[in-house]
Amino acid sequence: MCAPVHFAVEYAINPWMQPGVRVDRDLAMAQWDALRRTYLDLGHRVDLLDPVPGLPDMVYAANGATVVGGVVLGARFRHRERAAEAVAHREWFRAAGFTRVVEPEFVNEGEGDLLVLGNRAGAVVFAGTGFRTDPRAHAEAAAVLGRPVVSLELVDPCYYHLDTAMAVLDEDTIAWLPEAFTPESQAVLRERFPGALVADPADAAVLGLNAVSDGRHVVLPAEATRLAAELAARGFVPVPVEMSELLKGGGGPKCCTLEVRA
Ligand code: ARG
Repeated sequence: MCAPVHFAVEYAINPWMQPGVRVDRDLAMAQWDALRRTYLDLGHRVDLLDPVPGLPDMVYAANGATVVGGVVLGARFRHRERAAEAVAHREWFRAAGFTRVVEPEFVNEGEGDLLVLGNRAGAVVFAGTGFRTDPRAHAEAAAVLGRPVVSLELVDPCYYHLDTAMAVLDEDTIAWLPEAFTPESQAVLRERFPGALVADPADAAVLGLNAVSDGRHVVLPAEATRLAAELAARGFVPVPVEMSELLKGGGGPKCCTLEVRA
């Protein structure tokens, strides 16, 4: 995670961002810190990346890399405003002792568009495209991470990253918003996850699908109340968090969280 010390909405690269909107940075920091403490309370470890001045989106740490089995596929951002974040992430992983840290050739926005299901040999990567990640990055991710990649195409600019349109709940289940995908991609997901949880559009519209699951607890935006109830009905434990300030940049809990699969 990366603290929102320099968080602001200074440019607009997704429809949620309204440059000049008032951002309460203290509140953003409090919400981010509550998210961090939520993970600690659930027994997870949280490592911190140093915030860099001039990179207001750096709080969205999920975009900086994708890590599977200790292999780090670095990011390459679509917009120049975020380009330097990728460098900070790669440096962090090298300093932390990761020996395989790859600078990619094609644009990929890390776990924003690359969602990993499982961490064992059988892990599969679901890869989004349409707005940010280059489709050629999907084959690159498969080669670097050594895992099969399933390509999915997004169609709604409000759901510009895969992690705003779909959440991996455990090794067998996802929650998703079908209309955020092309009909072909909908068919792929329907076939693969016949029991998938279909999100109410109102929950998706508060970025409810931008959730982090450890297979049991699902950390999600507090406004996504129907989704929380459906998760509970399926035996998951919903853990609501307030993310109103970070939503102004177009992100929720998952955007603020890069999962390090050592
Ligand atoms: N303002 C950021 C952008 O548009 C938000 C990134 C959200 N991150 C995510 N994983 N969806 O790039």
